Amino acid sequence: MSDGDRPYALSLRSRPRRNRKNATIRGFHRETRVGPEHFIYPLFVHEGDADEPIASMPGCARLSLAGLLREVEAARAVGVNAVVLFPKVPDALKTADGRESYNPDGLIPRCLRALKERWPDLVTVTDVALDPYSSDGHDGLVAPDGRILNDETVEVLCKQALSQARAGADIISPSDMMDGRVGAIREALDDEGFTEVSILAYTAKYASAYYGPFRDALDSAPRGGDKKTYQMDPANAREAVREVMLDEDEGADMIMVKPAGPYLDVIRLVRETTALPVAAYQVSGEYAMLKAASARGWLDERSVVLESLTAIRRAGADVILTYFARQVGEWLAGAR
Ligand code: PBG
Repeated sequence: MSDGDRPYALSLRSRPRRNRKNATIRGFHRETRVGPEHFIYPLFVHEGDADEPIASMPGCARLSLAGLLREVEAARAVGVNAVVLFPKVPDALKTADGRESYNPDGLIPRCLRALKERWPDLVTVTDVALDPYSSDGHDGLVAPDGRILNDETVEVLCKQALSQARAGADIISPSDMMDGRVGAIREALDDEGFTEVSILAYTAKYASAYYGPFRDALDSAPRGGDKKTYQMDPANAREAVREVMLDEDEGADMIMVKPAGPYLDVIRLVRETTALPVAAYQVSGEYAMLKAASARGWLDERSVVLESLTAIRRAGADVILTYFARQVGEWLAGAR
């Protein structure tokens, strides 16, 4: 009630809005920062001479080698200094045993050598899994009855990891979700003297529908069945803790949660479970949703992208794999 001339006023000791009243004061107590130093930039490469746009991922393309070098140059110019490479393998090279995955002259080793020759300090990350190379489109070897074979797959993954390390990968990133692969890859790397090559484990990787555009980009969707016998059930969080304990024990250097935005609770849980750096992958479907709504004018792209990445950092991610890496770097460079 106002009495007489006094305007209506509550008598409050605490008014949280005082700490939000201008940009400088808000800046004093901002808890979360996000910038290009936190990003790993995922890039698609193919054998062709021209870059091929990916319909469900506007702004992304399957890059030629020249296109890759151009893209990395532009990304580095705005402070993004880590990339992860994904190959679109021609159908003729896809086999049931996925042997192209460890071809020393395959697409990924060639790209790695070219990148490292031009920028020795660029941090190169490579994905270890068979799906881009497999005629079955699975991350592991498929038995005649349809089961995904674990231990036989791990043997192939070790060969793949070694071929990547020999070509200059700084960080090997197994995304296949086979049991025991981190330990086996660590041992294979160490046996060949690659003790300085890191392992960023896809530790809590869910069987998610958000990977759809990525599988379009690589034409890598499973030909039969789904990935639920190796990737995690989206309904589960405790299982992530168990995977963290195993990957730590097997020698992982960094732990990943994937997808990111819909799994912020898992990022937080993993953050509180491990002392290792935590990465989160803002996957192709998260990118596609934000791009599509922004293209229609339904969301403001810059604001919503920065908010989505801030939320992933706030949840506890040190590093974010994001297709927005270069774009955010450009936005923030312009803002400085
Ligand atoms: C393959 C792999 C996938 C992604 C990264 N590595 C797809 C899958 O598991 O089916 C998804 C990335 C994305 O959607 O952006 N092992």
